[in-house]
Amino acid sequence: MQTTPLGAHYLAVRKRSLMLAEALTDEDCGAQSMPDASPVKWHLAHTTWFFETFILEKMEAGFAPFHAAFRVLFNSYYNGIGEKHPRAQRGLLTRPGMAQVRAYRADVDARVARLLGTALSEPARAELDMLLVLGIEHEQQHQELLLTDVKHLLAQSALLPAYFDAPLLAARPAPPRDWITFDGGLTDIGHSGSGFSFDNELPRHRSYVAPFALASRLVTNGEYLAFVDAGGYRSPALWLAEGWDWVRTQGLNCPIYWQQDGHGDWLEFTLHGMQPLDLERPATHLSLFEADAYAHWAGARLPTETEWEFAAQGVALTGGGLHPAGAGDTAGQGGDLLQMYGHCWQWTSSSYAPYPGFQTAAGALGEYNGKFMLNQYVLRGSSCATPDGHTRSSYRNFFPAGARWQFSGVRLAKQR
Ligand SMILES: [Fe+2]
Repeated sequence: MQTTPLGAHYLAVRKRSLMLAEALTDEDCGAQSMPDASPVKWHLAHTTWFFETFILEKMEAGFAPFHAAFRVLFNSYYNGIGEKHPRAQRGLLTRPGMAQVRAYRADVDARVARLLGTALSEPARAELDMLLVLGIEHEQQHQELLLTDVKHLLAQSALLPAYFDAPLLAARPAPPRDWITFDGGLTDIGHSGSGFSFDNELPRHRSYVAPFALASRLVTNGEYLAFVDAGGYRSPALWLAEGWDWVRTQGLNCPIYWQQDGHGDWLEFTLHGMQPLDLERPATHLSLFEADAYAHWAGARLPTETEWEFAAQGVALTGGGLHPAGAGDTAGQGGDLLQMYGHCWQWTSSSYAPYPGFQTAAGALGEYNGKFMLNQYVLRGSSCATPDGHTRSSYRNFFPAGARWQFSGVRLAKQR
């Protein structure tokens, strides 16, 4: 299989998922910290299930499942496939163990390799390639979730274990925030070209963008701390009504991974363990509620997704690592707009809705994105946890307004 570029890409992505789990114990891999997060073991099995269910079951001669029960255990949300193990109870799956999940992965990889080496009609080959690319992109999405879910899990322990045991270096000072202005006008938004995109990035369509300005970099921890110190979490006028209820109900006064030590100094839990809060790095793990309240306090607003994509055209794709880097360390990587990719997903004020003319695929794969287009907001860009090659200017990430375990931050916008 390594002889074809797609086959080699498949193997590399599959290998990377296992590599991400290498720093963890089997006990780490089985635990689930909250219903929104999944155990690492489940991620490793579910991504395998995707290839088994949507490719092998359909295209492999004499198909037989690796294990009949896995069809239910590792089905995430596909009603067209059938029954699902309850999402909130994935952490109860002590069986299969990690060894069997690794064997499941190896078995499916070998069978996918055999299928790729089989003589197929041209339409069948095209369908196999299309499904394989979708499965690879799907696995890359889960690689990001694996890291954010592990971070949330490790944060639950008083041991505060590091996923990667090396301190974060202090970031260089962030440059002052500039406002980058755009004239706007009629523009085409959505994926173009022959490369891969998810269905929610299509169809490309005409939009109008009024003149606007976008911040040259992400909001820093130092700037967000000023909002905290100014009583931002105690000022109802800054918050959306639902956001204020969210703050009050949970008794929140700072971002999810921030805490103060006995001297009043702020710390931040990271995949590098507990670290001093670096005021020059971007504020991350913010909910839409927090992002919006901050923007309100700062006299600005969140960008729309159309504005973001309009501004991002031509900006180089960058990033990577286990924590967002400071703007002072990324100068020269994005032209006037720093940190567009590879640090924090950026909340937009746009509801996650279908583009005009949006169509879903036939069958269960049509459930991939479309059925989630309600009560969620779009995030643009990519984060430090997003795998290389899994980033596009048209990419639409989406989460409910209260979600804050992803690497989500704020880029301010305003009218010109
Ligand atoms: Fe999935």
